[in-house]
Amino acid sequence: MAKFFFVLALLFFVVAMAMVTEGKKEKKCDKGWECKDSVYCCNDTITDFFQVYQFENLFAKRNFPVAHAVGFWDYHSFITAASLYEPLGFGTTGGKEMQMREVAAFLGHVGSQTSCGFGVATGGPLAWGLCYNHEMSPSQSYCNPDYLYPCTPGVDYYGRGAIPVFWNYNYGLIGDGIKVDLLNHPEYLEQNATLAFQAAMHQWMTSAKKKQPSPHDVFVGNWEPTKNDTLSKRFPGFGATMNLLYGDRVCGQGFVDDMNVVISHYQEYLDLMGVGRERSGDNLDCAEQAAFNPSSKSDAAS
Ligand SMILES: *[C@@H]1O[C@H](CO)[C@@H](O)[C@H](O)[C@H]1NC(C)=O
Ligand SMILES: *[C@@H]1O[C@H](CO)[C@@H](O)[C@H](O)[C@H]1NC(C)=O
Ligand SMILES: *[C@@H]1O[C@H](CO)[C@@H](O)[C@H](O)[C@H]1NC(C)=O
Repeated sequence: MAKFFFVLALLFFVVAMAMVTEGKKEKKCDKGWECKDSVYCCNDTITDFFQVYQFENLFAKRNFPVAHAVGFWDYHSFITAASLYEPLGFGTTGGKEMQMREVAAFLGHVGSQTSCGFGVATGGPLAWGLCYNHEMSPSQSYCNPDYLYPCTPGVDYYGRGAIPVFWNYNYGLIGDGIKVDLLNHPEYLEQNATLAFQAAMHQWMTSAKKKQPSPHDVFVGNWEPTKNDTLSKRFPGFGATMNLLYGDRVCGQGFVDDMNVVISHYQEYLDLMGVGRERSGDNLDCAEQAAFNPSSKSDAAS
């Protein structure tokens, strides 16, 4: 009799365990953004592989007293902005390694463009990303006559944000993209970190011109170079993301500091995230690339 009860209890136990395991599996599939019955189901989202301690590691010095945006940038605003772009593929494309590499690449741009690190800074020059949220001593108001996006009187369009935005027409265009009136209120990008990250992600996810890829596209392998691209030495990889974001200010000039510092941040972040710089990918630099958009007119950044 006792034996019978023992077997029965064992059976219950096994069934209960099976149900618990099943429940766990089902729960893991529920990611918030839509994925029922799709191949995208169960893929990691950014919060699965990039947590608050990693954000703190990457931007270790941003709240030191000598930094210029103390208390402004935080993990939560990054994740809130990212959640808007994950359904479009940001940090959710191509399996875990590519996902982590894309976050490191995007943040490498952000870190390098907002750094106040210099050779002898404590923690090294790569520990000072997100030190700024706006340009400190603008030398001009960055207003250019523009039919679509005329300057608002009394408003300055100096660099602001996580990948700094300069000029009235860029504020206008990006404002349209994120549905915020940045043309009249460029200051939002130095007042609201979520919006600052959103504006940066918009630049990463959007192509500047029809028939041109976005930085996201060239990084994750969504882009086939044309014959012209090949002749201009533009190939898929991190190098082409710099080309799209900064043009000939950074690319096609050989191994200049402005380019090297972006690459250094990307690789540092790959290391800190545990991916490793040996997985930086092909075509890391843009030293020899002709600009997608030569700067005669598009003096976009700086
Ligand atoms: C989900 O992961 C699979 C396997 O790694 C990958 O092939 C697929 O592209 C991923 N889906 C998205 C949307 O990235
Ligand atoms: C920042 O902007 C976001 C997005 O528009 C908004 O939801 C949030 O309330 C803003 N935060 C602050 C502190 O104004
Ligand atoms: C290829 O590049 C040349 C020279 O830069 C340019 O004139 C031409 O319009 C480009 N062709 C295409 C299809 O983009």
